Amino acid sequence: MSGTSLLSLLEAEAGAFVSGEEISRQLGVSRTAVWKQIRKLEAEGYEIEAVPRLGYRLNGRPSRLSLQELLPKLVTREFGRRLKLFDDVGSTQDELRKLAEEGAPQGTLVVAERQTQGRGRMGRSWLSPAGKGVWMSLLLRPEIPLPLTPQLTLLAAVALSRAIARVVPLEIGIKWPNDLLVNGKKISGILLESSAEDERLKYVIVGMGISANLDPEDYPEELLDKAVSLKMASGQTIDRSRLIAAVMDEFERLYDLYRDRGFAPIRSLWEAHSVTLGRPAVLRTPQGTVEGVPVSLDESGGLKVRLANGETKTVFSAEFGETTGS
Ligand code: BTN
Repeated sequence: MSGTSLLSLLEAEAGAFVSGEEISRQLGVSRTAVWKQIRKLEAEGYEIEAVPRLGYRLNGRPSRLSLQELLPKLVTREFGRRLKLFDDVGSTQDELRKLAEEGAPQGTLVVAERQTQGRGRMGRSWLSPAGKGVWMSLLLRPEIPLPLTPQLTLLAAVALSRAIARVVPLEIGIKWPNDLLVNGKKISGILLESSAEDERLKYVIVGMGISANLDPEDYPEELLDKAVSLKMASGQTIDRSRLIAAVMDEFERLYDLYRDRGFAPIRSLWEAHSVTLGRPAVLRTPQGTVEGVPVSLDESGGLKVRLANGETKTVFSAEFGETTGS
């Protein structure tokens, strides 16, 4: 018996009950096999009501992203206009990299319902369960010097926080360089991967993960005090297509601004959303631990930290240590 055939039986009844006996007769399988298949559909997000003597009724389907739903919501000129939707991928980063190598244009977007090898910064994995989040990668072909690439990370963080705030009334803070937090818990992360040749930037892949509709049971125990979803924080189920369209819009606007006026306006916006500046921090960098108060961003996106001795040190890559409450 396949899930589709059971599903089509329930769907054919359009909201009415179908008895377990009838299902097992039509599909030629045991009642236990029917029950197992029902549990499987429920795990995929179908809502199935089971009532003794009446049988089973389909009450809801898992939310799925579709081009039909998404495209009318896009208001951009370029970003997201070339769009590929996947059910299952290893990582959207790798799918987009293939397209980039084939010459895909700037603004190409890859979105997946689920990632089996979703990755985060510092070699960590990224939890990406099916149908629950926004797991996507956007292609940029910026004409900027290679050392300025980190500026785009900060731009992405501002774009995401503005887009999320448009869709759900939550106060979003940016933790340097690009984690988005709600009440100190992470709701979104950004991973920039770039390709360069002879010191020239060829393209940048901006990976964005937004934990939109995850429920507490979707998280491993040890993540629950560090991470939260928009749904858990707000009590609202998030319309993922609306969120994707809002991210594309905010990203394109900020990218235009960046092209026209440089990093200064992006830096001001980032600083206004930051929850890092002004708070004592312990930063573990590849060159050693830096302890002090982050005071501002430098021109390339590094974090300027004022040390106890009054000197300022700029940090380009770091993990926050325990004592910061990070
Ligand atoms: C982080 O905070 O460590 C960054 C997380 C980035 C996750 C996104 S989800 C879409 C894209 N594909 C990936 O494999 N990772 C990024």
